Amino acid sequence: YRNLRVALLGGGSVGAQVARLLLENSEELANRVGASLELVGILVRDVDAERTVDLPRELFTTDAETLILGADVVIELMGGIEPARSYILMAINSGADVVTANKALLATHGPELFAAADQVGAQLKYEAAVAGAIPIVRPLGESLGGDQVNRILGIVNGTTNFILDRMDTEGDTLEEALALATDLGYAEADPTADIGGYDAAQKAAILASLAFHTTVPLASVYREGITAITPAQIDSARKAGYVVKLLAICERLVDAESGQQGVSARVYPAMVHRSHPLASVHGANNAVFVEAESAGSLMFYGAGAGGVETASAVLGDLVSLARRHIAGGPGVPASQHADLPVFDIGQIVTRY
Ligand code: NAP
Ligand code: HSE
Repeated sequence: YRNLRVALLGGGSVGAQVARLLLENSEELANRVGASLELVGILVRDVDAERTVDLPRELFTTDAETLILGADVVIELMGGIEPARSYILMAINSGADVVTANKALLATHGPELFAAADQVGAQLKYEAAVAGAIPIVRPLGESLGGDQVNRILGIVNGTTNFILDRMDTEGDTLEEALALATDLGYAEADPTADIGGYDAAQKAAILASLAFHTTVPLASVYREGITAITPAQIDSARKAGYVVKLLAICERLVDAESGQQGVSARVYPAMVHRSHPLASVHGANNAVFVEAESAGSLMFYGAGAGGVETASAVLGDLVSLARRHIAGGPGVPASQHADLPVFDIGQIVTRY
């Protein structure tokens, strides 16, 4: 096998799970991509901090430069704008490919980072930046790349969905439910990003940019969070047959007066009728409806937040990059690595 050196920037809720899965599944992943994925280090602020996931101490470091410059693939899971932006640029300029889950950074500095990657032929992947474990970036950017997307409607923040759900079903206050969401690893380091609707607006900017093949600046996304939602409002919505959900809506529109085509992206709490599928999205789950010209209506649903769930999307990007790295080398075809037996139908179901 070839050896790919993987550097992890951040060992928190998501980073620690990525590290654990990389170490635990190293043999299976190596077989899958035809290269071993060697975790060379984990950048953190405090190497001595108590951690909930048991990882080898010697992997932790505070030396960003040595770690980044010694890697083939850099996975950024620190969050925030700086130093994440500078570290990603350092990785790209040193010839590494990058995976990130950092929607705050992509929604504000995406064009700069993609241009830097294009300039040196590096890859920058970000499936985990929108809707946690749900594959939505690749479907929009690749699978629907030949179609025309007209509308995206979704719940794209797990923390606020968890909070609104707890307020509705358990009678929690917003503060109680937020504390629980934070303990469960769903919330951002500064949860104002979640409850203020900023995180959902960042995701709406990313989704709209991808879907409409344009740059939708974060400043153009209309945003309202859930901080003003009271238990009394949740209660009266329930009595009227509705549930309150924080929605992200991205649309291709035509201006009625000028006939000019444009797009709109907006995030706000809305009353959703209990008969609508979005009303059944509970806990930290997300759901994204996509309406496309030829494909029609598509729905994507699953875990929108959580360390291990998000780690799945990060590792998907890593596997994809690793396969690209070894293209031309002795890579294993994606469909043929495992050589597993195919069971006869009689072995797995009782015929009706
Ligand atoms: P987190 O739990 O707060 O972890 C952040 C990690 O980065 C910590 O290990 C921290 O080190 C390290 N770090 C932060 N600033 C640093 C600096 N200046 N220098 C060195 N290390 C630094 O965050 P998270 O929840 O894992 O989220 C990481 C990223 O994934 C964010 O961009 C977030 O938006 C995104 N994301 C999160 C989820 C989720 O469900 N949590 C889902 C999708 C996307 P210490 O451990 O020493 O403090
Ligand atoms: N804080 C984010 C959320 C993490 O709750 O949706 C996933 O992006």
